[in-house]
This record gives sequence, C-alpha cells and structure tokens, in this order.
Amino acid sequence: MSGPSVFLEGLFGLRGEVAVIIGGAGELGGALAAGIGQAGAHVVVADMGEPACQARVEKLNAIGVSSEYILVDITNRDSIKSLLAGSLKKTGRVDMLVNCAGINAATPFLEVNPDTWDKIFAVNLKGMMESCQVFVESMLKNESGGSILNIGSVNSDKPLSRVFAYAASKAGVVNLTQNIAQEFASQKIRCNAICPGFFPAEQNRKILSEERVANIMNGTPMHRYGSPEELVGAALLLLSQRAGSYMTGAAVYVDGGFTCSWF
Ligand SMILES: NC(=O)c1ccc[n+]([C@@H]2O[C@H](COP(=O)([O-])OP(=O)(O)OC[C@H]3O[C@@H](n4cnc5c(N)ncnc54)[C@H](O)[C@@H]3O)[C@@H](O)[C@H]2O)c1
Repeated sequence: MSGPSVFLEGLFGLRGEVAVIIGGAGELGGALAAGIGQAGAHVVVADMGEPACQARVEKLNAIGVSSEYILVDITNRDSIKSLLAGSLKKTGRVDMLVNCAGINAATPFLEVNPDTWDKIFAVNLKGMMESCQVFVESMLKNESGGSILNIGSVNSDKPLSRVFAYAASKAGVVNLTQNIAQEFASQKIRCNAICPGFFPAEQNRKILSEERVANIMNGTPMHRYGSPEELVGAALLLLSQRAGSYMTGAAVYVDGGFTCSWF
C-alpha cells in the first residue's frame, strides 16, 4: 500500500510511542494531548488537579485517544520522579515529554513580589528543568532515545509589558531547551520548543485588559488569537523522530506573525 496517508503516517505517526504531557489538563496541553494521541501515541496526562485530569482523559477517550492520568506537582522533584515511575509501570516506556505547565501574574515592575517571582520560576523554569533531568535519564536507556517539547512563549523572544517573572522565565525556557539539545544531540535525545503567541486560556485571561487585547491584535499580523489546535502541526513535526529527525534546539514561534512584526 502507498499514497499520501501512508507517507504521512511514516513521517508523523506516533503509533506505539508514549507521551507524558505535563500540564496536559490545561487548555494548550489538552489540545496537544489530543493531537499527539490522534497521531497514535498513548498519552499520559500529568497535572495537578484530579477533576481536571479526569475530565481531560474522558475527552481524550471520547475521541479514541488511548490515555490515562497521573497527578504531578512539577515544583516537587519527588512528584516528578513518581510521575516517571508511574508512567513506566503503566506503559513500560516513555518516548516523549511535553512540558506545558505554566503560571503567570501581571504587575508593574515596582510591585513585583519576590515570592510571586519565585513561584512563577518554580513552575515555568525550575520545574521544567527538573522534569527534563528526570525524564532524560530514563530516555537515555531507550534504544530509540527520546524527544522533549518545551512550551515557551513570544516572551521567550521579547518581553511583554507587566509580566516580568513570566517573561524572564520564558526566555529561560528557550535557553534551557537549546542547552539540553546540545548536550544530548549525540545520544538520540532531541529537545525543542514551541513558542505560542496569544491563545486565551485560564492563565492569561485574567491579564487581558481591553487595552491589552487591542495592542495584541494590532501587533499580530493575522489580527486574531490562535486556536489551541493550531499548535498541533508544529508539535508533531518536532516530536516525531522521523519528521523532526534533524531538528534539535529549535524554537518554533506559532504566533500569527507576532514576533516578525515591527512597526
Ligand atoms: N495560552 C496562551 O496564550 C499561551 C501563550 C504562550 C505560552 N503559553 C504557555 O503554554 C502553557 C500552557 O498554558 P495554557 O494557556 O494552556 O494555560 P492553562 O492554565 O490552561 O494550563 C496550564 C496547566 O499547567 C498546570 N500546572 C500549573 N502549575 C503546575 C504544577 N506545579 N505542576 C503541574 N502542573 C501545573 C495547570 O494545572 C494547568 O492545567 C504554559 O506554559 C503557558 O505559559 C500559553
């Protein structure tokens, strides 16, 4: 048999692979879980709240995605280790890790609270670093290696006003991604990032004032928000060991042109 679907399956298909998606109960993580699952992978949704995880797995099962959930707090290393151990126990292997947990808070600079700064960094950067450490150690034992996808932001490129800790943490995400990529490139571990533009969700809805929305629309050449499913194509490209075989350390901006516009 040949034809486009066989060709595409060969390039992007993830059948027989296992993906752990941290932040998978959230809006973007949920869309990535659905896309990665529909490409054939078994999905482990890893997030904090049991009801949200249950709801996500029900939605995934309803569209035919093989999935389950394991609770994790990415700010706690033992919890990340339990996530890995639980995933290996249930599935026998982990081929892909998606780091999609993230939190945000907006204030003018002089009101930035150091404790809030620490909390944001603990999730967005330190937690990501620790989950990469824990999962890379396991992926190094896979014959076929592994693939990591970290979620940055347009803030990884340039800081948006009033989100100081978030912006600095997301700049760190790309730097961390590149550094992991170079360290493990010769050991079959690839590490890439997607940097989304504006996809209104729980964590940023509260900071989208009318004025901010107008600025975002003006600054986005496509003049619209992204829809979470629009991240899936880039994710499959970066995660697939065939389609993305020569890609590591990449930061792919999926942002309606936000980072290319300058006016
Ligand atoms: N929505 C956007 O416009 C946008 C744009 C750029 C980047 N991002 C990034 O995309 C990622 C997903 O964001 P989203 O918009 O889906 O938000 P979301 O709030 O819907 O999802 C974030 C998820 O992270 C989980 N989480 C938070 N702290 C955690 C912890 N300590 N341990 C485990 N899980 C934890 C939350 O429970 C939630 O399910 C984040 O990293 C965010 O910064 C979002």
